[in-house]
Amino acid sequence: MDLFNLQDKVAVVTGAAGVLCSSMAKELAARGAKVALLDLNEAKAKEFAAEINEAGGTAIGIGANVLDKDSLLAARDAVLQEFGRVDILINGAGGNKKEATADDTRSFFELPQDAMQWVFNLNFIGTVLPTQVFGECMVKQESGAVVNISSMAAFRPLTRTISYSTAKAAINNFTQWMAVHFNQNYSANIRVNAIAPGFFITEQNYYLMIDKETGEPTPRGEKVLEHTPMGRYGTPEDLIGTLIWLVSDASSFVNGAVIPVDGGFSAYSGV
Ligand SMILES: NC(=O)c1ccc[n+]([C@@H]2O[C@H](COP(=O)([O-])OP(=O)(O)OC[C@H]3O[C@@H](n4cnc5c(N)ncnc54)[C@H](O)[C@@H]3O)[C@@H](O)[C@H]2O)c1
Repeated sequence: MDLFNLQDKVAVVTGAAGVLCSSMAKELAARGAKVALLDLNEAKAKEFAAEINEAGGTAIGIGANVLDKDSLLAARDAVLQEFGRVDILINGAGGNKKEATADDTRSFFELPQDAMQWVFNLNFIGTVLPTQVFGECMVKQESGAVVNISSMAAFRPLTRTISYSTAKAAINNFTQWMAVHFNQNYSANIRVNAIAPGFFITEQNYYLMIDKETGEPTPRGEKVLEHTPMGRYGTPEDLIGTLIWLVSDASSFVNGAVIPVDGGFSAYSGV
């Protein structure tokens, strides 16, 4: 038996127009899964779905907002109509924004409530709502695998990013809570785990890591590299092995776990 087999599994990926999750969607499809790419950016989600279909995979792109339950319910209808079930949910939509980040121009005391709320909601509530909506399908089927996307900020908060750090810590807690809740109330065959990526250069953190005038790492970017024993940023491909493991039978007794994929960042004390 191929423990990693995903043939004909149906996967829903939120934030699938983004850097990390579009790569996840493509890799799931390359392994035979039928993939629904959900994103606020409908055009890009459809574009990536078309690329997957052209490459011989099976995918649909759907415009959906992870903070709007009606929008998720409409997406669920579309997924069920097209593919008939939901085996895998990747809660990838998330991110940070400058206005919710303390810096030389904006102290902690001046951080606007709406910006902090926006970041907290996107990361935390934007993980809970899709789990409610697509988790119901898993409960009916009595099987499923959910993978949440956490961050290094969840284990120990990163300086400056208050809402992002607290929301990702909440995702770790929710990952454990949900794993227990599914098993105790619905089915022992539904698992919930999380991946905590280290540092990957994408749109949402570019301003923190790279000086846009010079293209060189910012002092914060340099610190990240110094504290990553492997001495480099991650690439989207670095997440794939762990993802395939967590959504397949290869991890059949792994539940409520948060797996760092970080080049050793979380293992290093800095000394
Ligand atoms: N880049 C990193 O270093 C890093 C590290 C740790 C964790 N992460 C996490 O990985 C995940 C993916 O990040 P990424 O770097 O690929 O980011 P990204 O900005 O490239 O992608 C995020 C995607 O989410 C979508 N999105 C935003 N709000 C949405 C909403 N309300 N509903 C639906 N979709 C929405 C965006 O349109 C975008 O396509 C995020 O949860 C992020 O916090 C990233």
